[in-house]
Amino acid sequence: MHRTFIALALASAAITPAFGQADVIGSGVSPSAAAHSQTRPISFSATVPTSGALVIMMRNSTLPTDIVDMTTAQALNAAIAAAKFEGKEGTSLSLRGIGSYARIVLTGTGEEGDRVTNIRNASGKAAQDLRDESQPVSITGGLNQDEAAAAALGYAMGQYRFDRYKTVDRKTPPTNPVLIVSNDAQGADSLWKSRHSALAEGVSLSRDLTNEPANVIYPETFVERVRAAFGNTANVKIEVLDEPMMRKLGMGTLVGVGQGSRRPSRLMLVEYRGGADGAPLAMVGKGITFDSGGTSLKPGAGMWEMKADMSGAANIMGAVLSLAKSKAQVNVIGVAALSENMPGGNAQRPGDVVRTMSGKTIEILNTDAEGRLVMADANEYVIANKKPGALVNMATLTGSIVGALNDEYAGLFSRDDRLAAAVVAAGTATGEEVWRMPLHKNYLDDMKSDIADIKNVVEGGGPGAGLGATFVGFFVDKAVPWAHLDIAGVNWADKAGPVTPKGASGWGVQLLDALARNWR
Ligand code: BES
Ligand code: MN
Ligand code: ZN
Repeated sequence: MHRTFIALALASAAITPAFGQADVIGSGVSPSAAAHSQTRPISFSATVPTSGALVIMMRNSTLPTDIVDMTTAQALNAAIAAAKFEGKEGTSLSLRGIGSYARIVLTGTGEEGDRVTNIRNASGKAAQDLRDESQPVSITGGLNQDEAAAAALGYAMGQYRFDRYKTVDRKTPPTNPVLIVSNDAQGADSLWKSRHSALAEGVSLSRDLTNEPANVIYPETFVERVRAAFGNTANVKIEVLDEPMMRKLGMGTLVGVGQGSRRPSRLMLVEYRGGADGAPLAMVGKGITFDSGGTSLKPGAGMWEMKADMSGAANIMGAVLSLAKSKAQVNVIGVAALSENMPGGNAQRPGDVVRTMSGKTIEILNTDAEGRLVMADANEYVIANKKPGALVNMATLTGSIVGALNDEYAGLFSRDDRLAAAVVAAGTATGEEVWRMPLHKNYLDDMKSDIADIKNVVEGGGPGAGLGATFVGFFVDKAVPWAHLDIAGVNWADKAGPVTPKGASGWGVQLLDALARNWR
């Protein structure tokens, strides 16, 4: 009683009490309270401005007609010829002081592939090329409603920035508006406001969660950030299980992986009911907020990248945010299996046996194969409690998938051809491509444990990504269509891509958004 009184008095005087130190996890000093620098607001117009910085989308070397005046067109055609500019995807030609414009950037879309995707990508590249442009920016090139909205999405994704920790010489890039020109400016504007802007928000949420260091994002703060992002969005229900609740339910893998950390595990469920009938699509993501490997400690070089080991969960929350904010007529449940894998004194040891909430037992031969462990309890929980019509997993599960597919594709594992086809289609449509990998029945034999139902690794490795997927599938009711995406190769951009500045890519938000809209 007396002690509480003193603590309260000191807290209200904003003094950290010395005897309260035992309650502080980490240093207790947050690295920043700042926000990222502002980005350009996006709007639409039916007419092409006659000044500022103009981006023209080019399919080939032919300038689209009726965009600029005759003398400007002549100068541009001379520049196109002199530079041998062919409008190829990923190329651009930047010119200064042409006609009444301070700058004209010809940006190639190419002619092959999906036009809308090409325009999204070219616009994302333009956003990165024009990051420091102080002039107002406009984008044109005969864009119809869908293309203009895609250009807005690409621009929003391309101009994403994560700079809130820069305090020395932080250059604040210009925040002049970007104007997208379309013959259906109103239609594009309403498509952007009602749908694509929500998708951009979902991608930003995922990237923010993933780029944040692990001293800032851990299970509890992941939950807080996601709650804040949803605010009071309609038809959304959030449930969070803490450790005592999970222990009571016998969720030995989720609590077990977190037991070596001072940061307690969480299971977060975000349910969005968009009015459709039928069972929800469940999406379960790996949310390891830092993967040190645990007792089976990882080598030091590159270990920092394991702050991104929660990107599966982040992408899923981003996709649910997009669906909910755009009022999509779908029912989805996003689940984040949140733990920090650390080698503390109470950490799991190789050889430990744990059990999941269904009672299945696991011999842990390597504590670094922790993603599959947390996925087991999370999948069992959502199947038992939410009766989903289908289940999609997304996880940075194995280094093995990086060796197989690098960052060109995510690995798709599925026991259900119809669901697999829908995932492939969503990947193709969004440019987040997947490649289907095998789940041979021998893999499960290989994973038999001598003393438990299953072991979490096969010594000597073998087909690592397939073994990991097989392990996860062992805990999924065979009656539920199930697909697992191993995103270890695509979740982080070592160098910038068209719509992906360096860092967390948010890969999968668009795919899951498309899948949920088309799956039934
Ligand atoms: N989070 C890693 C997988 C990973 C590796 C993601 C590289 C991104 C980049 C995962 O938890 C892990 O450590 N997997 C092990 C499994 C092994 C012990 C069977 C791996 O891939 O080495
Ligand atoms: Mn690991
Ligand atoms: Zn991991």
